[in-house]
Amino acid sequence: MKRRQFLQCGALNALAWLTPTVSAKKTASMAFELTAKPGKIHIVGPDFPATDVWGFNAQVPGVPIRIKLGQSLDATIHNALEVPTAVHWHGIRLPNAMDGVAGLTQAAIQPGDSFRYQFVPPDAGTYWYHSHVNAYEQVGRGLYGPLIIEEAAPPKVDRDLVWMIDDWRLRDDASIANDFGAGHDRSHAGRIGNVPTVNGRFRDIIKVRTGERIRLRLINASNARNFALSFGDLTPTVIAMDGQAVTPFATKEPIVIGAAGRVDLILDMSGDPGSKTSVVDSFYREPFDLTKFVYEENPLRESALQSSIDLPPPNIPEPDLQNALVQEVTIAGGAMGGLRRAKFNGEWVGLREIAQQGYVWALNNVVGNRLDMPPLMDVKKGRSIRLTIRNETAFPHPMHLHGHHMKLLSINGQGLSEARWLDSPLILPKQTMEFAFVADNPGKWLFHCHALEHHAAGLGALVNIT
Ligand code: C2O
Ligand code: CU
Repeated sequence: MKRRQFLQCGALNALAWLTPTVSAKKTASMAFELTAKPGKIHIVGPDFPATDVWGFNAQVPGVPIRIKLGQSLDATIHNALEVPTAVHWHGIRLPNAMDGVAGLTQAAIQPGDSFRYQFVPPDAGTYWYHSHVNAYEQVGRGLYGPLIIEEAAPPKVDRDLVWMIDDWRLRDDASIANDFGAGHDRSHAGRIGNVPTVNGRFRDIIKVRTGERIRLRLINASNARNFALSFGDLTPTVIAMDGQAVTPFATKEPIVIGAAGRVDLILDMSGDPGSKTSVVDSFYREPFDLTKFVYEENPLRESALQSSIDLPPPNIPEPDLQNALVQEVTIAGGAMGGLRRAKFNGEWVGLREIAQQGYVWALNNVVGNRLDMPPLMDVKKGRSIRLTIRNETAFPHPMHLHGHHMKLLSINGQGLSEARWLDSPLILPKQTMEFAFVADNPGKWLFHCHALEHHAAGLGALVNIT
């Protein structure tokens, strides 16, 4: 089924609320028990069959995990799937052994087995968790959930909403197309679906009230789809990116969120009672309505709240730019990329031969096809790194560094008015971004494209910090 067909079913779920309402099974000590298992969810509404998914506690998105800054995250994952899995806590600066990368930081959790993750997240903000075993299939089937670390004193809002945005490749009967890791997706834009969803629902609506102030936490859980969201008459104020506070700025420009990225917005709902506002995506050629705000008849207040929306500034060590190790990384390969040969298992091999084994991308001419390969960077703990990433390909790449946030210093040589701390920057075709960070977290960390098919096709490397 094509997206357009779904888009015509405008009245789907017209009365449903969009908030994830299922709360975690918790004990008094806030320990979370998550079981990865098959489930059924209604993605495209009652006129279509339910979709078979894999979810944490059989839900998509999985159980929301919400704790306060300073609290320990304690989550036991039970694997009730027929395949191994593991959970990565995306964007959290955590101890390496808790990072959830099967084959690198832990053994995969076998069917029937469990694994307990325990760590204290050092930063407040909007994060997420997801499977890190065959992620291009497991995340694509729904194995992800929101991870919110609340500030000690969060800004005052009427509602704190989480939208996990995703897109699905569904067939006519609303079942998931099982062509995960298809060659075309690996070498082009990744798995782009035909059904974009918010919290697992296609074209749902959100009821709001005039005057209401909403903190909207956007989390892009797509395999590869990037979003650029506009909010109609509303002017969102960005307060955080990839979990880290920015100086709040109001903007009418579409809010770009690459795969795996997060953006926190403040929305003051200024529409008239009874009116509607569409949230429209325009990242790709054809814009579409992602979801809709529908105002209730009775306003909440006459004019917008005036209280402060500043978040505490990021609390991440400042890199020492003068004495930093300078590292350049070039992304090459893919369709229309012009890469002719690359190092594959330590030897120079022609791309055609590499592609026959499913790999088409390289970082600094090295195909990242295994977790036991020599690291791209091998540095002493505490060293500052100045990292320039050059995208010489025809596709955007959301590049994720595990265990750290990177300070974005410049784009195409242009400095930013304010540096930003990101863990999954989206680097557009032919774009160059310069970052700096302190390699302060020891361990072997993945650095990879979060277009999950790209990672599976070799767009990944290791950073070793000792
Ligand atoms: Cu979201 Cu390697 O992870
Ligand atoms: Cu990529």
